[in-house]
Amino acid sequence: MQIDLSGKTAFVTGGSKGIGRSIAEVLVDCGANVAITARGQQDLDETVAALEERRSGSVLGLRSDVSEQSQVGKAVADTVSRFGALHLVVNNAGVAGEPGLLHQTGAANWRRVMGINLDGVAWAMMAEIEAMLKTGGGSIVNIASVEAHTILKQFPAYVASKHALIGLTKATASDYADQRIRINSLSPGVIRTPLTMAEGQKAVTDRLAARIPLRRLGESEEIARAVAFLLSDLSSYTTGADLVVDGAFLLRE
Ligand SMILES: NC(=O)c1ccc[n+]([C@@H]2O[C@H](COP(=O)([O-])OP(=O)(O)OC[C@H]3O[C@@H](n4cnc5c(N)ncnc54)[C@H](O)[C@@H]3O)[C@@H](O)[C@H]2O)c1
Repeated sequence: MQIDLSGKTAFVTGGSKGIGRSIAEVLVDCGANVAITARGQQDLDETVAALEERRSGSVLGLRSDVSEQSQVGKAVADTVSRFGALHLVVNNAGVAGEPGLLHQTGAANWRRVMGINLDGVAWAMMAEIEAMLKTGGGSIVNIASVEAHTILKQFPAYVASKHALIGLTKATASDYADQRIRINSLSPGVIRTPLTMAEGQKAVTDRLAARIPLRRLGESEEIARAVAFLLSDLSSYTTGADLVVDGAFLLRE
């Protein structure tokens, strides 16, 4: 069965690399028009050019920091002006923050992680939902993490932000069900991306990967395909749910 998203407009935050970029690729391949946001112009230009090669005229790149409410609001408005309406959203942008015990990592790290992973999704959803109310409905997927279900040692802000994101997803799924807006989260396991392969993060990744029952890291396209399912009408009775895509990471001994 092919997922057909033609005629739909999608908005993906943090779409220039890693999981967000794979999501944008899969959505373009499914026929959607796709707006991606990123902070760096160079990454954005390079990704937009590569996506346009898959399907010309279907991609919009927007510079926007999700932790700044006015910037993400403008990005949503620019998406609607370019493509006419908003139907599908993936709130993907997120950061792990600095490793360390809570009292050592400090207030600046806490604010940065919460500002992007939780406030950033709330700011984005406020604008996205306003646009979807005008469209008459839509589907939103928030990218959480297996760390929304368990802990990652010495990343307290990250763990707290992802637990809270599941709460935000459930609360809003119930509140907007009558408006035909479905809101779900997806919790990736350990996925090969610039975030997990980064200097300083690679040792954590190797430690986690050693115990995955499927015996390998996940690939970002494997997350993107599951996101496409949640966005599409194939999941029309699914809202307020969290889909774990982790190679059974959460079931490790
Ligand atoms: N990679 C994994 O193993 C893994 C596991 C669980 C959850 N996740 C989640 O998946 C999402 C994507 O992770 P990834 O591994 O692809 O990360 P990544 O670092 O490779 O990419 C993250 C993207 O988010 C963007 N971003 C970061 N801060 C931003 C901001 N303030 N405004 C706008 N964009 C911003 C980055 O520019 C980048 O495009 C994150 O929410 C992360 O927490 C990843």
